Amino acid sequence: MSQRRKVTVVGAGNVGATCAQVLATRDYADVVLIDIKEGLPQGKALDIDQMGAVLGFEPNVTGSNDYAETAGSSVVVITAGLPRSPGMSRDDLVATNEKIVKDVTEKVTAQSPDAILIVVSNPLDAMCHVAKNVSKWPKERVFGMAGILDTARFSTFIAWATGSSVKDVQATVLGGHGDQMVPIVSATTVGGVPLRKLVSEDEIQKMVERTAKGGGELVNLMGTSAWYAPGAAAAQMVDSIMLDEKRVLPCTAYLEGEYGIDGLYMGVPVKLGPAGIEAIIELDLTDDEQQALQASSAAVREVVSVLKT
Ligand code: NAI
Ligand code: 2OP
Repeated sequence: MSQRRKVTVVGAGNVGATCAQVLATRDYADVVLIDIKEGLPQGKALDIDQMGAVLGFEPNVTGSNDYAETAGSSVVVITAGLPRSPGMSRDDLVATNEKIVKDVTEKVTAQSPDAILIVVSNPLDAMCHVAKNVSKWPKERVFGMAGILDTARFSTFIAWATGSSVKDVQATVLGGHGDQMVPIVSATTVGGVPLRKLVSEDEIQKMVERTAKGGGELVNLMGTSAWYAPGAAAAQMVDSIMLDEKRVLPCTAYLEGEYGIDGLYMGVPVKLGPAGIEAIIELDLTDDEQQALQASSAAVREVVSVLKT
């Protein structure tokens, strides 16, 4: 293993392994993959390392069941927990995943007291509260991944609807990571042209609806939840922190009055750098969007209220 800075990914399942794989291809950090299942993180790490010989990155991924390996991590991504099955909402996972995220947070924070925590486990907004309450770390160093994924889904549909490159779509999805998430149409452009000038309101509403239910669409197709886009989305947040990119990305941040919401984790645009969340960006929303954000926050508060942590 080299002496690069270290990123830990907890949960060597679909999302965690994909995140580790994307980070490995980026080739700037040592990556430690942790899971409770014996053999799984070791096997996936070995497989990813051997992929390096084909794709041309250094074999710097280690798999382990022992948190000692994670000591001194700069960033820890938590993907441990159950995924959705068909018919389940993300909120149905709360009791089981609360215990898992609590356990994982205790273990990673003991090994890496100065790290930044990125939570991925669902129900995402509530699990961010668990990680913050257990770690007692400042809000700048504990936040979640959901908005990049939700925005990626919206952007994909927009690229198809307009026949444009997805690279030229600028979109943002805010709010909780649930069916009441809020695609911000007023701030969505393709090549700088407002979406409403390019696509009918009816078609936009269909894309908004498909985005909000985008996780469920994939669960129905595959019998479990998505992992390629989620894993890459978490890795993009790690990049911005580790490489001091200062990207403005929609992430799940602890709000204290921003957007009129207090004491709650919600998806908003943030600037990400080595200190974690360096700023929360407040967009000008339309009245409808502001109302939808409030409704989304009420849905998140309901899930947070059942937490025991
Ligand atoms: P998965 O079942 O493929 O992997 C989860 C892994 O966590 C398993 O390998 C399991 O052994 C491990 N695990 C369970 N308890 C653990 C513990 N105490 N310590 C260490 N590892 C433990 O599930 P998948 O698809 O990777 O999803 C992981 C989580 O991420 C789920 O809760 C899912 O709902 C969530 N998710 C969140 C997204 C988001 O946008 N925030 C997007 C996609 C998934
Ligand atoms: C997703 O949106 C299930 O949260 C996961 O795909």
